[in-house]
Amino acid sequence: MEKIRVRNLKKYFKVGGGLIKAVDGVDFSINEGEVYALVGESGSGKSTLGKLILKLIEPDEGEIFFNGINITRFSKEQMRPLRRKMQMIFQDPFTTFNPIYKIGNQIFESVKFHKVVEHSFVEDYVVQLMRFVALHPDILKKYPSQLSGGQLQRCAIVRAISLKPEFLICDEIVSALDVSIQVQIIELLKALKSELNLTVLFITHDIGVARRIADKVFVMRAGKIVESGIIEKIFYNPEHEYTKRLISSVLSIKTQGEN
Ligand SMILES: Nc1ncnc2c1ncn2[C@@H]1O[C@H](COP(=O)(O)OP(=O)(O)OP(=O)(O)O)[C@@H](O)[C@H]1O
Ligand SMILES: [Mg+2]
Repeated sequence: MEKIRVRNLKKYFKVGGGLIKAVDGVDFSINEGEVYALVGESGSGKSTLGKLILKLIEPDEGEIFFNGINITRFSKEQMRPLRRKMQMIFQDPFTTFNPIYKIGNQIFESVKFHKVVEHSFVEDYVVQLMRFVALHPDILKKYPSQLSGGQLQRCAIVRAISLKPEFLICDEIVSALDVSIQVQIIELLKALKSELNLTVLFITHDIGVARRIADKVFVMRAGKIVESGIIEKIFYNPEHEYTKRLISSVLSIKTQGEN
């Protein structure tokens, strides 16, 4: 079943006297249960595309379908029941949480708001998810500033998956983390993915990281998808010069790291 489809999606930004074509005619579909990576250099339009799909920003042109339904012109009210089903996790987990409230209260509130489980079960439900991401439930009593980046990113994952989403966009969620924690978070996402039958769009500039989690890939350059398909095939046999550059930049970083 088709989970997401976008058709001729465009988003331009007027900056100074110029026009930035952040997303410039993107077409694709993602089937239920698939994990796609969206890779591309900085500024290629990955985050903008992610936000467009979830209607966090409005497109200039094009259409977005979720479960076969055209949501492009859905109002805030029409989107509300879908909000729970489509979640996005961002690079900086500090932006996910309000610094003045305890982590737990913030997660409980969103679970209550979306009525995911009965009120009296909310805390047990979240504690269970904390265990699943290997975090001690006491962390729920802390403030965002009291946690490490890796802990907070796990909390952001708990917050997103506590809503039982169908479609999850992860935008550079491991980029700011140490390599060992990156691996843990990716393994965690894989486990969650199969447990929850999630459909995932995993945004990263690093095609090496993308290979660890995704089966398929969209390669984005200057607002356009220039290449797409099975990630292993593209990794070993890229068609575009641009894709070759993305791959060799990953390989050269690895070599430097190993020396
Ligand atoms: N709100 C905005 N106003 C003006 N320009 C914007 C806005 N958002 C994004 N852009 C521009 O659109 C282009 C695409 O940005 P976007 O953040 O989508 O890229 P990205 O691929 O996510 O990059 P990165 O890997 O650095 O996160 C960039 O040139 C960016 O400066
Ligand atoms: Mg981005």
